[in-house]
Amino acid sequence: MVGQKLMEPPLLDNSGPIPNNLRAMAEPKTGELMETIVSLCKRRGFIFQSSEVYGGLNGFWDYGPLGAELKRNIKESWWRTMTLMREDVVGLEASIIMHPRIWEASGHTSTFSDLMVDCLLTKKRFRADQVELQSGDAYFYTGATDAAAGKESQEPFSVLVGAGKHPEYARKVAREFYQQRGMQNPALQGERTEPLVNSARYNPENGGLLTEPRPFNLMLKTYVGPVESADNLSYLRPETAQAIFVQFRNVLEVSRQRVPFGICQIGKAFRNEINPRNFTFRSREFEQMELEFFIRPDQAVEAICGTVATPSGPGHPGEPQANWGWQIWHQYWVEERLRFYESIGLPRQTLVEYWQKPDELAHYARATVDVLYKFPFSKRDEKGELMGEELEGIAARSDFDLSQHQRFAGKSLAVFDEELKAAWAKLEAPKQAALRESYTQARLKYLLKVGETPEKAAQQAAADGEALGKGNYVPHVIEPSAGVDRLALALICNAYCEDQAPDDKGKLESRVVMRFHPRIAPIKVAVFPLLKNKPELVRKAKEVRDLLRPYMSVFYDEAGAIGRRYRRQDEAGTPFGLTIDFDTLGEKGPELKDTVTLRDRDTMKQERVKLADLVALLTAKIR
Ligand code: GAP
Repeated sequence: MVGQKLMEPPLLDNSGPIPNNLRAMAEPKTGELMETIVSLCKRRGFIFQSSEVYGGLNGFWDYGPLGAELKRNIKESWWRTMTLMREDVVGLEASIIMHPRIWEASGHTSTFSDLMVDCLLTKKRFRADQVELQSGDAYFYTGATDAAAGKESQEPFSVLVGAGKHPEYARKVAREFYQQRGMQNPALQGERTEPLVNSARYNPENGGLLTEPRPFNLMLKTYVGPVESADNLSYLRPETAQAIFVQFRNVLEVSRQRVPFGICQIGKAFRNEINPRNFTFRSREFEQMELEFFIRPDQAVEAICGTVATPSGPGHPGEPQANWGWQIWHQYWVEERLRFYESIGLPRQTLVEYWQKPDELAHYARATVDVLYKFPFSKRDEKGELMGEELEGIAARSDFDLSQHQRFAGKSLAVFDEELKAAWAKLEAPKQAALRESYTQARLKYLLKVGETPEKAAQQAAADGEALGKGNYVPHVIEPSAGVDRLALALICNAYCEDQAPDDKGKLESRVVMRFHPRIAPIKVAVFPLLKNKPELVRKAKEVRDLLRPYMSVFYDEAGAIGRRYRRQDEAGTPFGLTIDFDTLGEKGPELKDTVTLRDRDTMKQERVKLADLVALLTAKIR
């Protein structure tokens, strides 16, 4: 590198930007901030509403040119970290529609539902747990009559009237309700009032009574083949995980892996969410990045290693060891995932590690840690701190999934572990008996929980206990499961920043800058000829663009003043800008010939760099 700055001297010290979402903590107007971010996403082509020209489709989103690159970079970073950089994880890409029995085995057909409530007046649907609690006076009616029309309704109804609303409002809403039941001029019957505190039974938008909560299955249905019959009913997968479980045996056979090992997958998932909300945060179509990491049951670890290592304290437990039990594997993956988020630019203080309480755990989970990101729309705790929303769940799923598919498909998904068989033979008889009993009891518990008869469960569990001694078991699973779209939104929120920068004349103006980590920035480098009407500059700039293209995403821009071009790239989050000027052509002497100005988006510092060094220099910065 040779030193000389060309333009846009950095007037500000931007060395320590406050992450936007933390800045937002100090600012109460988080709604406005989110609106600004949503509008930037549309204006700059990160995210568009799906089917916008037809008025949009709620819960579906399209990614524009910058958003598509951002998502690709997120997925590539994840894939690289989870499988390419590891010996013990391999990939899978499975179909979206799978055999419907899979969803029976996984429990999705029977239990994958949210409780919903409908407004009795407008029919608007809410998730029961998301209805805003309200207080006020409830007006109850036993029914209504319309004497002139000779009509009557005995359907009870009530309206909650909050502070500041006139009681007549309740009567107006109630009359509308009975009008919908065929009465033109309903006379309300049996009015009585009662004060209510923090009730979730009323529509926050109009005070009208809601239905009782009912379960609503979130799987999107379709029919496979030309006949729309119950026999052909299928589902768009609500998670990518199940494909991994049902392909477990095939992958194991072809990949020459042995437990502990993992299978990962990135792909679309679909959920018919009752209330899609917070921009892309809760969508009906989204992408997941999931790893199923298969481990030995603790009894097998103990048989082989003599003891089972458990976490000795918080933090990363280090390189995996043969004596690790499920708890330490779980902790390992939580820490690995936190490191991943930091590596792509989400500072640790923007993340929350939330340990689910026993009553929050899914039926299959022994422990789950949610990694939350402090989105601007997250709720605040009593101290005013953002509490965060889920980016990823890391669940210890025991041997539930493989055991279920084994039962439903009638095919063994147990593995044979040579090391276990050899170790078992060397154990003293009492130790063998203790481990067998412990394993048998764990299997019995599972079998009874999923509804096997006590007799059949006891028989099967005893057989499983015997099989353990011969080296056979159903692997347990640790599952880090993340959402691509939520991560993209978190990275966008985190990157958004407003600061001051000098214009072409050195006067300070405010700028919007997306401070993406270079690893995930949609465009890595922008190339600018200083002037577009000088063919030598344009030719050289295009040469530089073509030099870099095989290695990274490059944006070439010759339109407008150089300051404006910088601003456009700041808003797109491009971390580096290269300007090709007359010095590059050697017009000010041989010393600067074939050098360009490299500008850093965040510091706005500029340095002159030799063209010959560019590829190595930039690839090192974006890796
Ligand atoms: N296999 C486990 C599983 O699917 P989940 O917590 O239901 O677990 C995992 O989903 C991740 O998928 C979530 O942490 C979130 O990032 C993403 N996700 C789930 N539902 C979503 C939705 N409606 N919109 C966007 N992302 C979603």
